[in-house]
Amino acid sequence: MCACSSAISVLSPRQSRLEEWNERAEIPNHVITMLNNFPSKLHPMSQFSAAIAAMNSESKFAKAYAEGVHKSKYWELCYEDSMDLIAKLPTVAAIIYRNLYREGNPPDPIDKKKDWSWNYTSMLGFDNPQFVELMRLYLTIHTDHEGGNVSAHATHLVGSALSDPYLSFSAGMNGLAGPLHGLANQLPHYHQYVTCPTRNERTIDLAYSNVAEAYKCSPLPPLGDSDHNIISLMPKYRPILKTRKPISQQHRVLTPDGIERLQGDHEGGNVSAHATHLVGSALSDPYLSFSAGMNGLAGPLHGLANQEVLVWTTKLQEALGGEVTDDQLRDFIWNTLKSGQVVPGYGHAVLRKTDPRYMCQREFALKHLPNDPLFKLVAQLYKVVPDILIEQGKAKNPWPNVDAHSGVLLQYYGLTEMNYYTVMFGVSRALGVLASLVWDRALGLPIERPKSFDTPSLKKLVGAS
Ligand SMILES: CC(C)(COP(=O)(O)OP(=O)(O)OC[C@H]1O[C@@H](n2cnc3c(N)ncnc32)[C@H](O)[C@@H]1OP(=O)(O)O)[C@@H](O)C(=O)NCCC(=O)NCCS
Repeated sequence: MCACSSAISVLSPRQSRLEEWNERAEIPNHVITMLNNFPSKLHPMSQFSAAIAAMNSESKFAKAYAEGVHKSKYWELCYEDSMDLIAKLPTVAAIIYRNLYREGNPPDPIDKKKDWSWNYTSMLGFDNPQFVELMRLYLTIHTDHEGGNVSAHATHLVGSALSDPYLSFSAGMNGLAGPLHGLANQLPHYHQYVTCPTRNERTIDLAYSNVAEAYKCSPLPPLGDSDHNIISLMPKYRPILKTRKPISQQHRVLTPDGIERLQGDHEGGNVSAHATHLVGSALSDPYLSFSAGMNGLAGPLHGLANQEVLVWTTKLQEALGGEVTDDQLRDFIWNTLKSGQVVPGYGHAVLRKTDPRYMCQREFALKHLPNDPLFKLVAQLYKVVPDILIEQGKAKNPWPNVDAHSGVLLQYYGLTEMNYYTVMFGVSRALGVLASLVWDRALGLPIERPKSFDTPSLKKLVGAS
């Protein structure tokens, strides 16, 4: 990590970074069209997040990954995407602002001689130099400070599935949109409802409520020799209990076994489930929370692996033809591993045996399509891959997971558009992760914040001075 960042700073001193960002700032037309078509009732943060995800049409990381780039090159592509994304954000953010609050007048183009903050401020429609300076300060102090907050951690978590930086950051923005996180800066204004002076410290004067005119306040004389003033606070609003009829509801309490079944296959720790939970912990609504989960599911190490399996198997068929021997398969698999790629559909972060979801799909195939050539190939891979992964000695789990089998079944029944597969996965995943999200709120789980390290602690951890 240190080597990378020093390389970056050598490549990009301040002036050239400014020019570089301005060169990278153009945003694709489809994103402009999308933003211009959003209804004004869509919150600016939802627009921002959707636009960032849509810009992943430009991702160099996603393109290179699909072409089989070696894992040692990931950071360079991630750096490229991140620089592009940072450069494009002011224009996206300014279009949202102008559409919502400036009658849709498009922002002026970027001035290539000016810096990032200047351009952003100017595109918003402001030219007061002091405000530009304020924006420089604002944009500097709001960058991430330690990595554990919801937006930073959601970006990190979604990125851990190798979702590209556009999807990862979009998930982070869904977290930032939660009222316990970034949206806190737009919490309703609080009202001071004690109007009479109390005593020197004026402690009670500082009590606030977020309901305007919530209480009627009247001073009462102090008791005995006390220097306390007494105040009487009388509610001015009618409590909900008095304004609405109570509704009685019956709830069934789930047994532990029932809860387990409800959580289904995902157990809450995988990237899509955990991203939904994490973003939801900032009280971002279920739409934003689930959308973040979907950005994680779109990563090739997570849900997209079901598409990757088919892409890889198709390459295998193209390279080796119809009937293949086990030895030919072994060579192909070793070539995949030696070129710094994973064998998609094998391995798991938690399971240490064949995924039961693989097994039930296999049983279905044995019953309904035992002679399908693609199924036969998938079954042959099941015989060959685990031994190779064991021999390589890296993967903790050499057995197939759910994604190794789903594509072959969909292909057999004519749903051949593999790019679409992860969307179906997402439709299903909603059942599990949204059920969990409801439990999160029912149990009152707090905002999530994993432990984070500053640079000196990281250095200490690896024994660097
Ligand atoms: C699922 C997966 C991301 C779990 O990752 P993990 O928890 O880091 O797994 P491990 O601890 O076993 O990984 C240890 C090493 O083995 C490698 N490894 C794990 N599975 C592998 C596979 N299928 N092919 C090649 N290498 C694999 C990892 O990349 C890692 O290598 P590194 O030390 O060079 O970084 C991983 O097994 C994988 O990439 N599988 C292929 C993609 C896939 O099928 N995803 C769907 C999961 S349901």
